[in-house]
Amino acid sequence: MTELKTIDSQVRDLIWAVREKTAGEVHQTFEVDEKTSYKDLVTTVDKRNERWINRRLKEIDPGCRIVSEEGFGDQVNDMSGHVWVVDPLDGTMNFVMQRSRYAIMIGLFVDGQPSQGYIMDVTAKKLYHGGPNTGVFVQTSEGERPLHAPADKDLHDSLVSVNSMMILHGDHNLRQVALQARGLRMYGSAGLEITDVLAGRLGAYISWLKPWDAAAGRIMAAALNLTFVKIDGTPADVLSSNSVLIATNNAAKDILRLVK
Ligand code: IPD
Ligand code: CA
Ligand code: CA
Repeated sequence: MTELKTIDSQVRDLIWAVREKTAGEVHQTFEVDEKTSYKDLVTTVDKRNERWINRRLKEIDPGCRIVSEEGFGDQVNDMSGHVWVVDPLDGTMNFVMQRSRYAIMIGLFVDGQPSQGYIMDVTAKKLYHGGPNTGVFVQTSEGERPLHAPADKDLHDSLVSVNSMMILHGDHNLRQVALQARGLRMYGSAGLEITDVLAGRLGAYISWLKPWDAAAGRIMAAALNLTFVKIDGTPADVLSSNSVLIATNNAAKDILRLVK
């Protein structure tokens, strides 16, 4: 089996290559389709990225299985062996409507354990990557620096991000959470909002996340000793969709006291 170090370096090359292509296409014409509604879009770039990433992952890590958003992955019902989780374009609505603030995300679990996560902020040209065995790093064209665990701020001292629909619908008493925070921010890309928690720019992010929205972020959150749980405080399953809280441990304690 190929060593994890070799796999890691090849996956980083892959995600930078996909970034270059995607960034070059954002101002060009691409096809946009509605999936479940006019609020749920997919583009030819999402699909092309997923085919490309999945094909290359199978070359880099033969025998692996892939869970991915747009239907080009495998049917995965258990976490044995190497399982990759791929979001080929996160923040597709931003990609289409704003032409900025979107990400590419890849995560690797080995026998169910978080191994390596990758979140590429395409617009900022920044790759957040790493996991519990290596630590977390931020890579740019200028080089690489380690990302240390953020200050363990409580809710009053934190900016928080909450999924806009969950706030609008008044789910889980989340308006109270936002009111008790220092401020509320909403960006429309789970990946970028999670990198904001990893880097200490947000104290918490709360959203309904599918496996590919959460995987890369939960791997790096584990490496930085951040809280990653379901909104009821119980562990979140990698292969299920959940209402999820990613936060500093102190903000998480405050939030879990408030949510219903
Ligand atoms: C979506 C974005 C959005 C979040 C949704 C995700 P997509 O991912 O991350 O911010 O609120 O839950 O599905 O569909 O653009 O990959
Ligand atoms: Ca996506
Ligand atoms: Ca996504």
